[in-house]
Amino acid sequence: MKLRNLDGVNVRGKYVLLRTDFNVQIVDGQITDSFRIDSVMKTIKRLRNAGARVVICSHLGRPKGKKVDDLSLRIVAEYLNIPFVDDCLRKDFLSGMKNGDVVLLENLRFYGGEENNEKSFAKKLADGFDIYVNDAFAVSHRKAASIVAITKYLPSYAGDLLESEVENLSALLKSPKRPLVAFIGGAKIDTKINVLKKLVRVADKIVIGGAMGTTFNFALGLPVGNSLCEFDKTNVVMNILKLAQKNNCEILLPIDKGVGKVFDKNEKRINRDAGQIADDDVIMDDGKKTTQRTIDLLYTAKTVVWNGTFGMAEWGKRWGYSTFEFAKHLAHFSKTKKIKSIVGGGDTVAALDACGVRKDMTFVSTGGGAFLEFIEGKTLPGIKVLMKK
Ligand code: 3PG
Repeated sequence: MKLRNLDGVNVRGKYVLLRTDFNVQIVDGQITDSFRIDSVMKTIKRLRNAGARVVICSHLGRPKGKKVDDLSLRIVAEYLNIPFVDDCLRKDFLSGMKNGDVVLLENLRFYGGEENNEKSFAKKLADGFDIYVNDAFAVSHRKAASIVAITKYLPSYAGDLLESEVENLSALLKSPKRPLVAFIGGAKIDTKINVLKKLVRVADKIVIGGAMGTTFNFALGLPVGNSLCEFDKTNVVMNILKLAQKNNCEILLPIDKGVGKVFDKNEKRINRDAGQIADDDVIMDDGKKTTQRTIDLLYTAKTVVWNGTFGMAEWGKRWGYSTFEFAKHLAHFSKTKKIKSIVGGGDTVAALDACGVRKDMTFVSTGGGAFLEFIEGKTLPGIKVLMKK
């Protein structure tokens, strides 16, 4: 998949509309995770150094076409220390910009036309610009005006981050060093069905953990007590298992669990074999044996893809045991270049950060939904419009 990139494009003195994904977590007026912002700095610097007049646009949250003060991007402009323009359709500031200047526009989703991919909105947004650059991989699965329709009105290119996401994730699917082992956790099977259907075709093994592992175990007749579990997904689970068998992909499910009696982060942790879960047990993490088996797989794996935590990692060490142990070991094998590790998804990346190991992974995607859809094998709409003919 080759994208039109910025190589050889003369941007000096040009007005460049740069689409980024600054949909970052903000708690009590503070940006708590700047990963997505920091990841786009390479493109911003590149454009700036090449003499472009860079106008950044992004969404934040889901304001549904209304101005919501808490979802203003002003806080990101302050973080970047650049001027802020309080309406994404304002143009009056353009004439005052010099080569190398950078500004940030207000939240695109304050206009309904953005999410509806409205041509008229895209046309207004494009007005005054010479070039459009998409460096917002994380929202490229959305058919939005600033992602898709805009490319009808401006010469359009992929930024460095978008290109690197596409290159890394494509290589994972096309030519992985084997064995390729996928580690899939998280709670909801619906959000992962298509990923699993794709992964059973490309991976040698898939480890299923967390609440999803509970759903798989339940479908196979194991007790799950009073735990979070999707009881109506037995058919889905059986279909995935069949498909895996057909494709020679081994599926590994949790063999033990960390349980308590109440769904609470302060609950005392007991380790219980998967077949011994009591009626009043609440599963909140994968167990110690499961964790050890997961780590052991890293001694032979050459490529690892990881999405989804294996327990309530957001509660800290006690219930994040399996996730954190895995993250630390994966970091070690990635750092020593024994494994190529590809990690994606907000909770998973947060777990890497909790252990301070994000930098050790081979590649960490900025995408959540976009990451999953790309792995499913979908051509994301924002990428399709940037593909070389
Ligand atoms: C994300 O956080 O996954 C992207 O910014 C897309 O956001 P959305 O799910 O609100 O479209």
